[in-house]
Amino acid sequence: MGNAFFAETVDRYAKYILPTYAPQTMFVKGQGVYLFDADGRRYLDFASGISVCNLGHCHPRVTAAIQKQAAELVHISNLYYNPVTPRLAETLIKQCFDGAVFFANSGAEANEGIIKLARKYGNRTGRNEIITMENSFHGRTLATLAATGRAKYRKGFEPDVQGFKQVPYNDFEALKAAVTDKTCGIMLEIVQGEGGILPADHEYLRKVRALCDEKDILMMCDEVQCGMGRTGTLFAWQGTSIEPDVFSMAKALANGIPMGGFIVKRKFTDVLTAGTHASTFGGTPLASAAALAVQETIRDEHLLENCREQGAYLMENLRRITAGYDFVKCVRGKGLMIGVVLDHPAGALSKVLLEKNLVTLTAGETVLRLLPPIILTREQADEGLTIIAAGLKQYAETKKGA
Ligand SMILES: Cc1ncc(COP(=O)(O)O)c(C=O)c1O
Repeated sequence: MGNAFFAETVDRYAKYILPTYAPQTMFVKGQGVYLFDADGRRYLDFASGISVCNLGHCHPRVTAAIQKQAAELVHISNLYYNPVTPRLAETLIKQCFDGAVFFANSGAEANEGIIKLARKYGNRTGRNEIITMENSFHGRTLATLAATGRAKYRKGFEPDVQGFKQVPYNDFEALKAAVTDKTCGIMLEIVQGEGGILPADHEYLRKVRALCDEKDILMMCDEVQCGMGRTGTLFAWQGTSIEPDVFSMAKALANGIPMGGFIVKRKFTDVLTAGTHASTFGGTPLASAAALAVQETIRDEHLLENCREQGAYLMENLRRITAGYDFVKCVRGKGLMIGVVLDHPAGALSKVLLEKNLVTLTAGETVLRLLPPIILTREQADEGLTIIAAGLKQYAETKKGA
């Protein structure tokens, strides 16, 4: 039955959905760290819907919160108060710094918001340029594409939105040289995700922070992929010695219910005032209830500690099992945001692993990207490692034979 159902679904996609994606397998159910196809075949999920389902699929506490809120109040618009959204904002703020939150729906929308904030702040003193990093990824809207440090995504969508320039990541001298009297913001990911799981150097971040302080430039962090516990702290910048002035978040914020947003320090909360920015769906009671359940679960189940523990275990053992393969250059990352860096495109290896019931991703073309849910247990980490070891062996043999 699975094959006919799959074929029928693929046909519907081909006919009715714009071909902007190239999906592989079809899943019909998710539970914890596992996904199931129409034949009931079980897959271990080391992708988490691209760092969205950080608490795994259909976490009972999140599901219960969604069900309860869906029966009470789903949406009323931001023209009215609701009791749920400010509770979420308070919970988030109490875990970072004094400031305020703007809620949106996606990573790109959250980043658009911080770009608008930086411009509005800078324009007070005639500054509106933002410096971003090469190989960064900030989204697919026109402004976030202009911020994104990979020209291929902008191809065909010219003209580019003005006011952005890119410099090499982790290169402080290049960044300093690029700052002008027009610069109002510097935007970066603490761990570059799409660019290839590349963590920022701590000393570099410290210097960027000092430069921003000296020149009254907003330090802007994109926490869309690396935030929400992914690297072992709630926000990735908390694992460094710096505090940004503003940071965006999305993906895992509500564990799959679309939600994004940004948190800005108190010093800058007078920049976006009534009527200057808005979003119809931003911070609905439904998404807020799901996100609150996410926060409570991370706290009660000690998931940040678990992320650090399982991340260190996976990284150590990945280094061990990849050591004999000369096409593996290194294993890098932080917490459960891990990249296995190859010397050639990683898509074929990811495909071999999928055939062995392990869902993985690629990044920056040559990196096998592993983003398991942060509820991962030691046994499930071992299950993943066993599949990766077998997959690597098979892949290396086919490569040799090719
Ligand atoms: C770091 C980063 N920023 C922004 C985005 C865009 O998020 P969205 O697809 O929700 O618009 C992504 C998506 O992968 C991302 O990884």
